[in-house]
Amino acid sequence: MRVVLGVSGGIAAYKACSLLRLLTEAGHEVTVVPTRAALEFVGAPTWAALSGRPVAAGVWDRVHEVPHVRLGQQADLVVVAPATADLLARAAHGLADDLLTSTLLTARCPVLVAPAMHTEMWTHPATAANVGLLRSRGVHVLEPASGRLTGADTGPGRLPDPEEIFSAAMALVDGRPGTPQQDLAGLQVVVTAGGTREPLDPVRYLGNRSSGKQGYALADVAAARGAVVHLVSAPTELPVPHGVEVERVESALEMQEAVWRAAAGADVVVMAAAVADFRPARYTETKIKKRHGPGDEEASPTVPLVRNPDILAGLVQERGAAPRPVVVGFAAETGDADGDLIHHARAKLARKGCDLLVANEVGPGVTFGQDESTVHLLRPGTDEPRRVGPADKRVTATAVWDAVLEVLQAR
Ligand code: CTP
Repeated sequence: MRVVLGVSGGIAAYKACSLLRLLTEAGHEVTVVPTRAALEFVGAPTWAALSGRPVAAGVWDRVHEVPHVRLGQQADLVVVAPATADLLARAAHGLADDLLTSTLLTARCPVLVAPAMHTEMWTHPATAANVGLLRSRGVHVLEPASGRLTGADTGPGRLPDPEEIFSAAMALVDGRPGTPQQDLAGLQVVVTAGGTREPLDPVRYLGNRSSGKQGYALADVAAARGAVVHLVSAPTELPVPHGVEVERVESALEMQEAVWRAAAGADVVVMAAAVADFRPARYTETKIKKRHGPGDEEASPTVPLVRNPDILAGLVQERGAAPRPVVVGFAAETGDADGDLIHHARAKLARKGCDLLVANEVGPGVTFGQDESTVHLLRPGTDEPRRVGPADKRVTATAVWDAVLEVLQAR
């Protein structure tokens, strides 16, 4: 798909670099059209390197190609991120004083605009009227996020996360040529994500470092490919992908209950969550306090742990010989003296009895919390695991769903 990524002159222009990467990694041909002010924040070489295409900013560059008309005419999608108050005003009033506004006038494809500015500018009646005008003409204007703005102030005006803009943009063009095939349409899938928190007392829990990024990417990609997605999420900071129903849980026991409920009638369950293997044996209703008596400096409580149920293994057991749901497990592995990563992954696949195991290569600074990972996909009865990566977790997610489709087709 041909995408024009318009960037106007706000500090959030740097975040458009991540959005650009998401678009190119999804296979789209992206032409970046920055305004002159945007180039003050992020230079043309950065856009050219990330997009792999020349960067056009002015109407006087490469005039023989008539870029001020062609770019808009040929685009399948225009995304403007960030859109400043000035850009919204110029777009709303049909000005064509640079390449981006000219492109907006000639584009007949879906247009998504992600505003970012200070709260006062966003809430000013002039901006509100411009946004209203653009929306009345069919332009999709995202609501800015709330939070910390440049400097110390906070409020609505932040650019939404690149992942959120990306999934809103993809939702706009769903089903059009060049967008993901709807090859998961008709499937009900359950995806778990994030790391569970095992409560100890009202202020403490045992947790782990899972960011939830892989699970959220799996949910996002499945929804974009047409599946009905129920995401059971342990706590994360991530935005909910477009079109995904999310159920929030904290502990392994809560996750088990949610997964079992959602798995009834599901075609696929993907257990990407990092479920704690153990939880404190007892939840203490009041905060556990230090003692301050004589000799208590050395005293420390012992926290006995008990095993959590294995949600994945339980699902496989419950399913028995039934063909559905297809169950996908994840594993974080390193090689050690007993064998390499694949050796351990094969053993885990056999132990858990799942239909597909996604073995993550882990190590210091690898996989956890990162945008990229390297995984090996293992299926029972197949010799060679399939290696994916190092790649963005969306690319991994796409490979996982491709493998799930193969499992479903083999049934
Ligand atoms: N899982 C689960 N319930 C648990 C623990 C894990 O469903 N109580 C799922 C995870 O969501 C993941 C897979 O099982 O899909 C991971 O298996 P696990 O045995 O937890 O892997 P490790 O913790 O890496 O196991 P080990 O310590 O034995 O290597």
